[in-house]
Amino acid sequence: MLKDAEEIRPLHERIIKSDYRQHYHIQSVTGLLNDPNGFVFHDGVWHLFYQWCPWGAVHGLKYWYHTVSTDLVTWQNKGVCIRPDTLYDNKGAYSGSALPTEEHLYLYYTGNHRDENWVRKPYTCIADLREKKVAHKLPPLFGPNDDYTEHQRDPKIIHNKQDGKYYIILGAQTKDKKGCCIIYKSDSPTEGWSFAGQLKVPGFEDFGDMWECPSIETISGYDVLIFCPQHLLIQGRGDSIHHSGYLLGHMDWESLTFTPDNTSFHVLDFGFDSYAAECAANPDDKNKATLIAWMGLPDASYPTDEEDWSGCLTLPRELRVRDRRLIQQPLDGLRELRGRKIDLETTDVLPRVCEVELISRGGDLTMRLFAKSDGTGGLTVTYNDSTKEITVDRSGMSKRFNTGWGEERTRHLPKGLFHMRFFIDRSSIEIFVNDGDAVFSSRVFPTDGEDRIIIEGDASLHLWELKRAVEESFIDD
Ligand code: FRU
Repeated sequence: MLKDAEEIRPLHERIIKSDYRQHYHIQSVTGLLNDPNGFVFHDGVWHLFYQWCPWGAVHGLKYWYHTVSTDLVTWQNKGVCIRPDTLYDNKGAYSGSALPTEEHLYLYYTGNHRDENWVRKPYTCIADLREKKVAHKLPPLFGPNDDYTEHQRDPKIIHNKQDGKYYIILGAQTKDKKGCCIIYKSDSPTEGWSFAGQLKVPGFEDFGDMWECPSIETISGYDVLIFCPQHLLIQGRGDSIHHSGYLLGHMDWESLTFTPDNTSFHVLDFGFDSYAAECAANPDDKNKATLIAWMGLPDASYPTDEEDWSGCLTLPRELRVRDRRLIQQPLDGLRELRGRKIDLETTDVLPRVCEVELISRGGDLTMRLFAKSDGTGGLTVTYNDSTKEITVDRSGMSKRFNTGWGEERTRHLPKGLFHMRFFIDRSSIEIFVNDGDAVFSSRVFPTDGEDRIIIEGDASLHLWELKRAVEESFIDD
């Protein structure tokens, strides 16, 4: 247990010297970051927490670390918010969500309890961030459900305005090892919870063996079931077995049935590193929401593990529905980060922190980023106009990792390719295709000399350096 944040100050001071620390992404202050949690707007401020293991790049004892923003672009570290310091969360304060009320900001999370025989018993816990700093824990809402395996976690709190009730959705696993969601219900956010039933999702009764981080959002009148099915293969995703995606459809809270409007599970992000996406409702506009995800995967390792830190979040994205699909676009506020504009007629050097915009005039295209000065290597983005497929291949980078799940990701673009925006930070790249048709988020760890940008094809390119938006600051505990 972290008694005093000073214990990890030396680690923080060492890791912030890393060449791979980012300038405009939320990243672990020390140790490991995984899922975003409790993303919500409250009292004029966006709150965002992340799963955090303070001591090193391992999935050890998890805390909630707190960050805040007023514009979703610049973020400030607030410090430790939930510590695993009770019997109920003795082996970690796992993922969850937040509910703002007039006077409270309630945080719902999974207390990962293990007994003396190392048997896991997940508790659904609640804390109140009333002091706006360290959360005050209330009694747990309920314990494990014996009709499911020990895998029950990641409470998503929903206040259903139609029947006035509160619902908690948990990711779970049935005893015959099928992924599902289970639902609890109450008249009050803090007490009186009872089991309501298993969520019925016709057509998805056998879809992976565990569903992590589920939520149901409503955007533009559509209900969206977002979840992470595990241990299944999905076309275009190589040998990856962890996915973050969604179904669009209709939720009937009375019968606890989510009816998808077609049979496809849509992947949220086509890149290599994206998981546990979390959505924040927009306070003023029901037609959009904001999505953020962990730019990483479970059971994976990253080159900075040996520096004792790993993990960052994706950029928050604006989420809308178009043509019965979710589209994700960079937030408008990111344009404020644009600094010096670089003329690609005079240089082919790619800054380590930048944005590239590409407008295609049609036809095939090949783009190499982080190539060597002789034009070889790098991350290659290829668009094939006859198949209308875009492919991202990171096998040309000298630091390769998680290669067992494949080094190529492909996405079909029914309308062809016309526009791309690349957001490059010191160890990541996010590619937004065609105003939100597809997003590819990936970690990349360029070494000295992997710093060129090369393009073959008919397109115009714009390149800006980007300013810093997330300061390195220690936990003022
Ligand atoms: C997803 C996850 C969640 C869990 C958390 C623990 O990455 O496994 O299901 O609550 O991470 O850190």
